[in-house]
Amino acid sequence: MKKITIAIDGFSSCGKSTMAKDLAREVGYIYVDTGAMYRAVTLYALENDIFQGEKIDVEKLQAEMPNICISFRLNPETGRPDTYLNDICVEDRIRTMEVSNRVSPIAALPFVREALVKRQQEMGKDKGVVMDGRDIGTTVFPDAELKIFVTASPEIRAQRRYDELKAKGEEASLEEILENVKQRDHIDQTRAVSPLRQAEDALLLDNSLLTIAEQKQWLMEQFNRVINR
Ligand code: DC
Repeated sequence: MKKITIAIDGFSSCGKSTMAKDLAREVGYIYVDTGAMYRAVTLYALENDIFQGEKIDVEKLQAEMPNICISFRLNPETGRPDTYLNDICVEDRIRTMEVSNRVSPIAALPFVREALVKRQQEMGKDKGVVMDGRDIGTTVFPDAELKIFVTASPEIRAQRRYDELKAKGEEASLEEILENVKQRDHIDQTRAVSPLRQAEDALLLDNSLLTIAEQKQWLMEQFNRVINR
């Protein structure tokens, strides 16, 4: 069967990753979470004194970029890929509020984007990949055969994130999360390099009121439509 590239972009906390992971498993494709890569660079910056208060030591981060090696390895227990930073599993540490609050300015740095986009293009060069992020359909794989742009209301996204953190036993405030969601939307949409926007040929999916099963069915319909074209 022919292999295609599937680009899933959209706002934060839309359930993009879960959707993309499930779709990849269903169709036997590789899954790449590009947000995890930006988060891993942010964690590296936090752990290596690259943040000075609110400021980022851009020169230091740029010099360190060649030493930041990000990879994914399948976790046999969860059946899903975990994120590794320089051979250490950082899957949990990149999902904390501390990293969420700091990632947008890191993801806005052109040299960070350039390095990670290159790596993402290498990972998807043989097709058969589901990649989720913000700029996959616009910048990383503008020729992807199937592009989906996911959205949901900020309030619903904040509630989902809150439930996720609570389930992991992390302290969280719904107001703080809603503020973080809105702030990230703003930074992601207004940054100079690869701002978050829907590619012209992307299908819009507003999943505010969809169940997981309804969403899955819709995705499989789109996949089959493209594969059988
Ligand atoms: O999807 P996420 O919330 O894990 O993404 C973390 C951050 O990385 C978010 O602020 C947007 C940014 N990002 C990006 O700029 N480009 C991507 N392809 C993926 C994520």
